[in-house]
Formats: sequence, structure tokens, C-alpha cells
Amino acid sequence: MLLLEGISQTAADAFATAGYSDIRRFEKALPVAELHRELAEAHIVGIRSRTQLDAEALSHARRLMAIGAFCIGTNQIDLAAAKRAGVPVFNAPYSNTRSVAELVIAEAILLMRGIPAKNAQCHRGGWSKSAAGSHEVRGKTLGIVGYGHIGTQVGVIAEALGMHVVYHDIESKLALGNARSAASLDELLARSDIVTLHVPETPATRMMFGAPQIATMKPGAHLINASRGTVVDIDALARALHDGRLGGAAVDVFPVEPEGNADAFQSPLCGMDNVILTPHVGGSTLEAQANIGAEVAAKLLRYSDNGSTLSAVNFPEVTLPEHAGSNRFLHIHRNVPGVLSAINEVFSSRGINIDGQYLRTDPDLGYVVIDAAPDREQAGQLREALARIEGTLRTRVLY
Ligand code: NAI
Repeated sequence: MLLLEGISQTAADAFATAGYSDIRRFEKALPVAELHRELAEAHIVGIRSRTQLDAEALSHARRLMAIGAFCIGTNQIDLAAAKRAGVPVFNAPYSNTRSVAELVIAEAILLMRGIPAKNAQCHRGGWSKSAAGSHEVRGKTLGIVGYGHIGTQVGVIAEALGMHVVYHDIESKLALGNARSAASLDELLARSDIVTLHVPETPATRMMFGAPQIATMKPGAHLINASRGTVVDIDALARALHDGRLGGAAVDVFPVEPEGNADAFQSPLCGMDNVILTPHVGGSTLEAQANIGAEVAAKLLRYSDNGSTLSAVNFPEVTLPEHAGSNRFLHIHRNVPGVLSAINEVFSSRGINIDGQYLRTDPDLGYVVIDAAPDREQAGQLREALARIEGTLRTRVLY
């Protein structure tokens, strides 16, 4: 196992507990030549966002069985090339849900109290001790746009603080607690004291929040965006904040973000006292890192020990029961006609009964799992016969 970029100790612990002792760990991403050398030996590789697993890198990884992206995104991996090599990729898209939700709630409270401006004033030597424009969140209405993993968590915590929660989603969603689905986005905007955005980046959400939506919000209401930078028309938001149409905003994500910590950050919102600006850290906590480590390690172990590919990002998904009492043969192949019958022929021609068989395909790839109980010698022969089938990418036997 090759774990790069300082992947959390929780992952290494999970592998060690499961009996995987040959683990090579590196604190940083490796230079390309060293990466290629290490990949040549690895059965499983774990990376974060800096290691580029492109087609060239993957061509060195002849033994590779699975990739763990110990982060949210998988842009750093050539998913199609991994798939062509029969290698599933796992990530942890929801491990930082709670971290984002906590930040949003904190920002809602700070905005309702006018703390961003008061904080800025104090730093400049000013003093404006006054209750004017300062409110509790209890009894106020929070409007959640996008009632998914994060949106629902925000709603649950907001209700615990005594807030009324309304939400808008394009899918029909079960309301948690006393949350209520708004009749429309406009109704939500017109009712809410604070609006928080939790939609994904899609063609439909690109710039979905601009001058018309701001004009529909209550005068003096607050906007929080910790979703994606492209969702909000940032110039329209800056105008509304400058004019006092909106009371304040908290923004964690931007249409253009610096590449790295050494690069300068620029935004029309810079310098505005009523705005909380954060550098895309909504999900960045040590707890989220630990959760990511545990979640991706669990998915890799499940694939390695059991064959399940549930939630793989580039692979047909198969959820499998335990296989006590039988061997499990895994066969990954190009999705071409005749492979399944050839697989069955390998077993039937040797008179070996199949206890269970699972098949998932997508247009490019087929993944067949066969439970059977041959003796150890036969199992080896079966695997060799399976590997000879035209179109085979990878085979494995779990004893
Ligand atoms: P999710 O997929 O669980 O939920 C998104 C919800 O938005 C779904 O219920 C979906 O039906 C809904 N939706 C999609 N299009 C919509 C539309 N046009 N109008 C209304 N609702 C719509 O996603 P999750 O995990 O809750 O993440 C939400 C956002 O937060 C994503 O954009 C994600 O990239 C971002 N995020 C930001 C982080 C940060 O550090 N600031 C960390 C983690 C996630």
C-alpha cells in the first residue's frame, strides 16, 4: 500500500487493523519519477489533491488494484484511464458535511449580530457599543437552497437554535424536523432573514443567484455562500452590500480562487466590513480529514477483501454479501459480447457449481463476481482460465 501526501493516521490504522502491514507512507506528493517507481510496486495507492495520476503515471502501476482519493474531488485522476486498466477509484464526497454546516451556523449568528463590521471597527480603534441592527437568530427564518447532505445538516442545527427553516430543492426531499419546503425559490427568498446556498455546480446553478434573486430577498437580509463560487453573481452581491440592500454576507467560495497559498486573493467583496470572507475552508477541519481517512480506507478495504465497489466514481457498482465457505472470483473485463458465457463455460466445463453470481456493466466495462467452492488447486487453475478470456482486464480470487 502506498499512502502519499500525509494521509490521515486513521487510514493507516484502519489498514493495519485489517492486517495490511506493508504500508509505505510519504508526507508529501512525490516527484514524478519517484511516483512512477513507487506506483510500479503498489497494489493500492492513496493520494490527496496534489498527486497527478494521469494515464502516463497509471501505465507504470501494473499491479494496481484500487485508488483512494482521500479528498472530495477526483480531477487529479484520469478516471477513464483507471477504468480502462480495471482500477476502481474511491473518494469521500461527504466526510466534511458537518464542518461546512458548523461554519454556516456560526456565520449566520455573527451576521445577525453585525459582528463582522463591529470586529473590523474595533481592529481600527473604533467603538460602537449599540444594539441597533443586532438580532438573535432564535425565531428567525433560515432559507436553505439545496437541501442535500449539507443543507439538511444546517437545517437540523438551525432548528436546535430555535430558527424556522424553509428549503428549496429541485428534487422532492423529505423534510427533517419542522423544516418546510418552500413553494418556490422566490417564496423562500421573500421569507428568509438569512439565505444559505448548498447547491452543486451544474449548468442550472451557474449564476443562479444574481440581481433578481437579491431583489426578491428581504431588505437587510443576509446571504451565505459556501457552495461553489460560480453560483453567485459576485458583482451583483457586492453592489447590494454596498447599497445596504443586503445586511451582510459570508462567502467561502469564489468564481476565481488563488491556485495556492502564495498567490494573492482578489474579489469585489474585499474591504467590505459587513462581509465575512474565508478562503474555501468550509470543509477544512482536522475532524473532516480524519473522517475522510476512515471513509476511504473502509471503501478500499471492502473492495480488497470483499470485492464491493459501492460508491466507486468510475466503476460499475456492486454490493456483495460475505462469502464464507466459498472462494470469490472477481473478473473485470471490457464490455464486449460473449464474456459472461465464456466465464460460465470456465466453471461448467470443470463441473464446478456456482454458488452466487453478481454482474454489473456500464457501456465500457463489465464486473462479474462469482462465488464457488473449488479446492485450492482448482481455484488457481480457474483464475488462469478466466484471465485467458478475450477482453479480460483483471482477475482476482478472494480465499
Ligand atoms: P448534495 O449533492 O448532497 O446536495 C446538493 C443538493 O442541491 C441536492 O439535494 C440537489 O437536489 C440540490 N440541487 C441541485 N441543483 C439545484 C438547483 N438548481 N436548485 C435547488 N437545488 C438544487 O451536496 P452537498 O454535499 O450538500 O454539497 C453542497 C455544495 O457544497 C456543493 O456545491 C459542494 O461542492 C459544496 N461544498 C463546499 C465545501 C466548502 O469547503 N466550502 C465543502 C463541501 C462541499
